[in-house]
Amino acid sequence: MLAQLEQLEQEATAALDGADDAQALEQFRIAYLGTKGKLKSAMSWLKDANPQDKPKLGQGLNVLKSKLQAGFDEKQKSLGGASRQAAGPIIDVTEPGLPPRMGRTHVLRQVIDELIEVFGRMGFDTAEGPELEDEQHNFIDLNIPEEHPARDPLDNFYLDDKHLLRTQTSTVQIRVMEKTQPPVRIVSLGRVYRPDTHDATHSSMFHQIEGLYVDERVTMVDLKSTLLQFAHAFFGEDAEVRLRPSYFPFTEPSAEMDIKMTVRGKTEWVELGGCGMVDPNVFEAVGYDPEKWTGFAFGLGIERVAMKRYGIGDIRWFYENDLRFLRQF
Ligand code: DAH
Repeated sequence: MLAQLEQLEQEATAALDGADDAQALEQFRIAYLGTKGKLKSAMSWLKDANPQDKPKLGQGLNVLKSKLQAGFDEKQKSLGGASRQAAGPIIDVTEPGLPPRMGRTHVLRQVIDELIEVFGRMGFDTAEGPELEDEQHNFIDLNIPEEHPARDPLDNFYLDDKHLLRTQTSTVQIRVMEKTQPPVRIVSLGRVYRPDTHDATHSSMFHQIEGLYVDERVTMVDLKSTLLQFAHAFFGEDAEVRLRPSYFPFTEPSAEMDIKMTVRGKTEWVELGGCGMVDPNVFEAVGYDPEKWTGFAFGLGIERVAMKRYGIGDIRWFYENDLRFLRQF
């Protein structure tokens, strides 16, 4: 029996050596290693073998099997490699490509575009002003006197005695009126800067939208109906607007604007910003006749508007560029 094993080994080795193309190799595999192969049938020798030969025979068959398998694997690798090389590198032009990762508009930019659109439909043009401002436009022409707490150097990013990063987009009201004659109907959207400690609701840089409407006989009814139309367009037909008396140096009378909105089934009044009728001192500063012209103005925090609309809990998420956040919008 052991002699038979030896013969099988010689025969199989010769067959493997002789298999020099893929087809011959496959035939070898079927003949020797396959489920109906010679190695498998040699396993039946075991039951007829002498008890003292059995361990040796069993071991011998196992060794032969792994030897042939290893030889086969190696040969297959070298044959496969050779034929692949001959055919050149494998490029499957029908394989689907990797989809490119698409960028998207930042949620703040989406909200800004939508605000421009909503106010545009009401006849408001957009205007721009510089972020690096002088005291004249940030304070003086807006009727904010020297001793006003808003001018405290600790509450502003001053660059020198007279220049600072603007703290409000109200500066653009002045810049527009300086170079345009009424009627004026603009919104201005952009960044403002205040040295606030960063937390969930404060950032030293954020965005505002400013509105200004100047014409003859503009009243608070125009102000409130404009804000109401905005609220309906932006927060839905159920939204309501409430004006609460307040004070701003550049409007008289002044008001805080609250919007009653329903977000995810929850209805609440949310304070969104300030507004009022343009103060006659502001008209004088830009050379408009306060006896002839009237107007309203408003200013809202854009992050606040976006946070309320989408239920965003932390202002810092807007600026961190975390795709897990940004991809949701
Ligand atoms: N500029 C004000 C602020 O930053 C907001 C504001 C209030 C703007 C009243 C206005 C206004 O135009 O009329 O707090």
